[in-house]
Amino acid sequence: MAKPRVLVTRAIPDAGLDLVRAFCEADVWTDELPPERGVLLDRVKGVDGLLALLTDRIDPAVMDAAGPGLRVISNYAVGYDNVDVAEATRRGIPVGNTPGVLTDATADFAFTLLMAAARRVVEADRYTRAGRWRTWGPKLLLGQEISGTTLGIVGFGRIGSCMAHRASGFDMRVLYHNPECEESTEAEALGAECVDFDTLLREADFVSVHTPLTPATHHLFNEAAFARMKPTAILINTARGPIVDPGALYRALESGTIAGAALDVTEPEPLPPESPLLGLDNIIVAPHIASATGTARGKMARMAAENLIAGLRRERLPNCVNPEVYTRLPGTRD
Ligand code: GLV
Ligand code: GLV
Repeated sequence: MAKPRVLVTRAIPDAGLDLVRAFCEADVWTDELPPERGVLLDRVKGVDGLLALLTDRIDPAVMDAAGPGLRVISNYAVGYDNVDVAEATRRGIPVGNTPGVLTDATADFAFTLLMAAARRVVEADRYTRAGRWRTWGPKLLLGQEISGTTLGIVGFGRIGSCMAHRASGFDMRVLYHNPECEESTEAEALGAECVDFDTLLREADFVSVHTPLTPATHHLFNEAAFARMKPTAILINTARGPIVDPGALYRALESGTIAGAALDVTEPEPLPPESPLLGLDNIIVAPHIASATGTARGKMARMAAENLIAGLRRERLPNCVNPEVYTRLPGTRD
């Protein structure tokens, strides 16, 4: 029997790619940059499966271009706001993601950003390299205490709870708010308190975002939110860029409404070099690398490949974001 045809929109680590190649006839887009829209629409024609990245917008036009043979969309990410999941569900196409395996790496990086921003690490490095280090100074590059302060976690899922775990090692008080409003039982065990968004903004010294991007969280951090934060507060975002309104963030940082920010995700991505945010000293911007460890990316690749292959076999995806699709696919084996 002919192998199923799939499009893989970038060269993911071999741990996944080797599996895909063993099972499929794979067209792998190997450029550093994602395929442009027209290229994606062209290359996806007639495929049985699609392994996509968060840099690809997988909408009805892509599904139409693939055609009725498309059996699975496997996203190489835990977040899946780049995929029109409702549309995939309507068409009976399961969508996979890669939860769990990047949780520690992402929380580690969120905490790294928290500490780097609090202690002005990036600014200090720039200062040294610019030849400005003349002596030890009693008031040189003063930062903020981390131990014993209050961390506000917005979105207490897997990554948010890992963040709370790290914060407990720094004797931090942990508040959390889920925009979807569920209380987390795990939070209680970690000593984290469920509060409303206003209380979190008012009381947190650090606010770290770990919620998915949805219509409800789009620009959740806007002018009004920043106005309610402490002037000493630092915002950390390792979730999705559009949860933070970049214009409002710029004004808040520039006017001292809040003290600092550390972003791994931005709106847009990449942030253009002329973005006013990059002219500020009190912000750190990383190029969406929170899950970028060899271990996490290897496991994500394997998981994405397993989701893809399961979908091609019409088996249930090990990690499916729209399981409701199975109530509509009579031929599916569990
Ligand atoms: C990365 O941002 C991911 O969602 O995996
Ligand atoms: C969000 O994607 C999480 O894993 O918490």
